[in-house]
Amino acid sequence: NKGKYKHYMQKEIHEQPESLTTTMRGRLLRGGSCKAKTVLLGGLKDHLKTIRRSRRIVFIGCGTSYNAALAARPIMEELSGVPVTMEIASDLLDRQGLIYREDTVVFVSQSGETADTLLALEYALEKGALCVGITNTVGSVIDRNTHCGVHINAGCEIGVASTKAYTSQIVVMAMLALAIGGDTISKQERREAIIDGLFDLPNKIREVLKLDQEMKDLAKLLIAEQSLLVFGRGYNYATALEGALKVKEVALMHSEGILAGEMKHGPLALVDENLPIVVIATRDACFSKQQSVIQQLRARKGRLIVMCSKGDAASVCPGGGCRVIEVPQVEDCLQPVVNIVPFQLLAYHLTVLRGYNVDQPRNLAKSVTTQ
Ligand code: UD1
Ligand code: F6R
Repeated sequence: NKGKYKHYMQKEIHEQPESLTTTMRGRLLRGGSCKAKTVLLGGLKDHLKTIRRSRRIVFIGCGTSYNAALAARPIMEELSGVPVTMEIASDLLDRQGLIYREDTVVFVSQSGETADTLLALEYALEKGALCVGITNTVGSVIDRNTHCGVHINAGCEIGVASTKAYTSQIVVMAMLALAIGGDTISKQERREAIIDGLFDLPNKIREVLKLDQEMKDLAKLLIAEQSLLVFGRGYNYATALEGALKVKEVALMHSEGILAGEMKHGPLALVDENLPIVVIATRDACFSKQQSVIQQLRARKGRLIVMCSKGDAASVCPGGGCRVIEVPQVEDCLQPVVNIVPFQLLAYHLTVLRGYNVDQPRNLAKSVTTQ
């Protein structure tokens, strides 16, 4: 039932304040004045000690689920103190990559049925690693075959392009990082700020959804383009990959997410006055580096669209001349949840304007159950 919406993708984008609320329900605890704020993930509480002692945490997924894990990687490393490595499921299998008994391997899959992710799970189980699932589908194979895990509870997602599952996955992995991080005193302030940020996140998503018309206008400008580049780094490297994936899979427009730190090692050659480029430059520890990326792109007459924190238009684009998308600022590790929303809206409007099927893009299936 699409209710007042024309398409499932549109409905699922707009219901993110509610889906995120459901994802967090019962899992964030704000104690009384002397009690610290904590996270409770029922499915993991008996395994946290083992996870804390593991040699590595390995995130495994495909497509959007991989991108969600990538978005959560920095906060997982920061709070857990355990190195986190990333694996695309098919690539781990292709090279028969190393997995150890002392590893905690986290399988991220909306459907819980993706063939490559399932095979990677069988592989990691054989190696004797602790296998943790993060899935949206209760009773799915990944749910049943992992040792423990967390249901993201985002509600059924029908549009082939994943939207609300992506944001719920990131939130669950941020909560996982908080749970693994435990109660070390030195990180208490940071943890409490993140928990406060999580409580307020649905409001911030409501705010960023107001960019709908602005993203429709931007889509009109980009309707006939061949290609779109997206530059991000740090917490928002994942946003660049995921934003580009949304645009390519539904709007059928070539789009590439690029790690901004790699700009000079190749991508800079593409820059001219025609190719549209989105630069993600919201406030975090990488902000000044992104300001310098913007300067260098402008020096080559790049056609820039800059995503920045509210009130920062003048500092990201001194003298004007760029199109600016201003988004509400949240705790740095939660910023990818906010920043992806304008890309989802842009991809949606581009697709509708270009006349393509937004809920069932050409050649794609919701759940990829074959290799
Ligand atoms: C559980 C209940 C929820 C109830 C809550 C009350 C279920 C599915 N969830 O939620 O309805 O409101 O207690 O306290 O009954 N698991 C895996 N692999 C996965 C995902 C989950 O093994 O990929 C396991 C978990 O380790 C856990 C169980 O499934 O044992 C349920 O997980 P989850 O729904 O996340 O737990 P709760 O949030 O505690
Ligand atoms: C893109 C998309 C896919 C899936 C991928 C993995 O919007 O939905 O990239 O993320 O096929 O699917 P799950 O998460 O079900 O394992």
